Amino acid sequence: MTDLSGRTCVLAYSGGLDTSVAVAWLRETHGLEVVTVTGDLGSVGDLDQVRDKAVRSGARRAVVVDAREPFVRYFVWPALHADALYQGRYPLATALGRPLLAKLLVDVAREEGATYVAHGSTGKGNDQVRFDLSVAALAPDLTVIAPLRSGMNMTRDEEIDYARKRGIPVPATKKSPYSVDENLWGRSIEAGVLEDPWEAPPPDVYQWTVDPDEAPAKPREIVVGFREGTPETLDGEASDGVTLVEKLNAIAGKHGVGRIDQVEDRLVGIKSREIYEAPAAIVLHTAHRALEDMVLPRESLRFKERIAAEYAELVYNGLWFSSHHQDLSAYIRSTQRYVTGEIRVRLHRGNVTVVGRRSDNALYSHALATYGKGDAFDQKAAEGFIQIYGLSLRNQARLQGLSSGETSMPLTLPAKSGSGAKGTESPGSGSKSSPRRGATRGGHPKRPGAPKRA
Ligand code: ARG
Repeated sequence: MTDLSGRTCVLAYSGGLDTSVAVAWLRETHGLEVVTVTGDLGSVGDLDQVRDKAVRSGARRAVVVDAREPFVRYFVWPALHADALYQGRYPLATALGRPLLAKLLVDVAREEGATYVAHGSTGKGNDQVRFDLSVAALAPDLTVIAPLRSGMNMTRDEEIDYARKRGIPVPATKKSPYSVDENLWGRSIEAGVLEDPWEAPPPDVYQWTVDPDEAPAKPREIVVGFREGTPETLDGEASDGVTLVEKLNAIAGKHGVGRIDQVEDRLVGIKSREIYEAPAAIVLHTAHRALEDMVLPRESLRFKERIAAEYAELVYNGLWFSSHHQDLSAYIRSTQRYVTGEIRVRLHRGNVTVVGRRSDNALYSHALATYGKGDAFDQKAAEGFIQIYGLSLRNQARLQGLSSGETSMPLTLPAKSGSGAKGTESPGSGSKSSPRRGATRGGHPKRPGAPKRA
């Protein structure tokens, strides 16, 4: 192994067995001085204990940062504004946390004059990509070491053995059969029996959400207030971001809301079965989208959906610190200027349902929508609208005829045998006002009856 004696390596440290062993391994294998950085994104628990454990594992210095506020402000809220759900479901908790942890890593590396940074990701996942690329973008001069993909290949028992021999505290509790990553925006669970995609997740997978079957029979209604896309109130009460997310995780989790069971595509090309618990994320995404439905014009909604998919992908794929991200963000931020208002949601046995919405910026107009009194919509004008709107379609029907495609429904539906049904007509043929001139041209003269496919 390369001897990097005396140089400093800043390691992203979770306090778990892998990264504790990595502290000792980096020292012993590479001769590096190790400084650990732990960013608390909402799951670290006792920060002093983590610091202590890092030092006992052999770290020269252990830095612990409460990064919950910047995590929510600079990562979670922008992803919410974007409606970013990877492959339509995963709210990206882990993916959003990595670039922030990488930023903390780089900051401490600068303080320390370090040339190396390290992380505990394996060589099979997305997290290595997110760490490596974030560091590459923020500090291209630093070299990344990932012990778990470059030589430190120990089984869990070997790690325990290795740790014991060096006086590194070993977890007293039995190891969870899963690989878990956690922060304010969600819990990501993989491996163990979950690797069989046919196997239902055992109950011990879940820790933030109760089984929907055991959730209260009585639904709970809550009101989320947004200002320019950012949630600011819960049931009318102002709340800072961290508290709001924590509260929602607790409330929605109690009602069984927030479970996701997904087979997703990792960047490295592997399909992976993942379980997520993300109660606050699911409630807030649902509410945010419902508010956008009220205030954004349909063109924006339609276009934003495409941006959302693109944004989710870039976050998932580790491109947080990219100009592509900055450019998409500029668009997304602009769309949020009218996204102010309140959404009422009902939480009930695993479901979150929007039951009310209001906004001073609403494009919803009662006078236009109503079927009751005060209707301001000119129904007569609809005829002219359809006349012009349908011009191209009518033109096509006249010149090319209908349904020349083999896959479409036959214009003459087969008569039901024995039913006596007669005179089945082509769609539109009964309409006096639109004679089907020319319709026979493309109208399947070859198949008067049974729809035989060529
Ligand atoms: N598949 C998710 C992602 O790539 C979560 C990975 C979390 N890691 C874990 N050890 N469970 O963002």
